[in-house]
Amino acid sequence: MSLKEQIVMSQLPQHVAIIMDGNGRWAKSKGKIRLFGHKFGVRAVHNITEAAAELGIKYLTLYTFSTENWSRPLAEIKGIMSLLVSTIAEETETLLKNNVRLRVIGNNSLPDKVQAKLDECVKKTENNTGLTLVLALSYSSRWEITEAVRSIAKQVKDGAIDIDAIDQNTVQNNLSTSFMPDPELLIRTSGECRISNFLLWQIAYSELYFTDTLWPDFDKEELYKAIVEYQHRERRFGMTSEQLKK
Ligand code: IPE
Ligand code: IPE
Ligand code: MG
Repeated sequence: MSLKEQIVMSQLPQHVAIIMDGNGRWAKSKGKIRLFGHKFGVRAVHNITEAAAELGIKYLTLYTFSTENWSRPLAEIKGIMSLLVSTIAEETETLLKNNVRLRVIGNNSLPDKVQAKLDECVKKTENNTGLTLVLALSYSSRWEITEAVRSIAKQVKDGAIDIDAIDQNTVQNNLSTSFMPDPELLIRTSGECRISNFLLWQIAYSELYFTDTLWPDFDKEELYKAIVEYQHRERRFGMTSEQLKK
C-alpha cells in the first residue's frame, strides 16, 4: 500500500503546522548561496500546499519568517522579501484554482511592498472555501501572547470583560490564530528539535514530528509519512489508554 493509501481519511488532522527549516544547509550542501535554498524552499511550499488541499486538510500554517530572523544578514533578508513578492505574484492563480484561502499572522513590520502584495492576495482569495494557508511572517509566539495580554487588559480597563471571567477561551480568542483550531500535528524539518518561538500556546497538545529531511526536499510523500505516523499515535489528553479504548 502506498503511503497515501495508508492515510485514514476520516481521521485527518484539521490543522497541520510546519516549521520549514534547513534551506540554508540544503544550499550549502550543493555549494550554493543560502538564497538558492530559499528558492527551492518555495517549490516545497507549492507542493505541500497542493498536497494538503488535495487531502482535504482545513488549515496549513507555515512558519515562514520569525521575528528573530530579522537578525540575519541584510542581503539574506532582502532576498527572502523579494522572493516573497515574486512568489505571491506567481502563485495567486494557483491558489484561486485550488480554492485555497491565504491568511497571514505576524507583527506587521514587513516592508510596505511585501505587505501590499500579501494584502492583495488575501483579498483575492478571501472567499475560497478549501484549505486555509496561513503564513506566519515576522511572527513569534511571545510577541503574539504579549499582544493578547495587552488586548485583554484593555478590554478589562474599558469594562468590556470582568477579570474573573477571563479563562482559556479568552486567551485563545485574543490570539492571532483565533479563527482556527489548534494544530493536531506540528512538523519540523532539518533535524532541529526545538520550537523556535512558534505557536507556544496552540501546540499544548499537538503531536510533534521531527524529520532530518531538509525543507527543500520535503515532498508530498514526506507529508503523507508524517500524517500516517500521527495517526498511529495515541492521543491520551491526560487519560489512560484503557479509558480511551472504552
Ligand atoms: C528556514 O531555513 C527558512 C527561514 C528561517 C527563513 P534556514 O534559512 O533556517 O536554513 P538553515 O537552518 O540555516 O539550514
Ligand atoms: C525557525 O527557523 C523559523 C522559521 C522556520 C521561519 P530558524 O532557522 O530561524 O530557527 P533557529 O534559529 O534554528 O532556532
Ligand atoms: Mg534554520
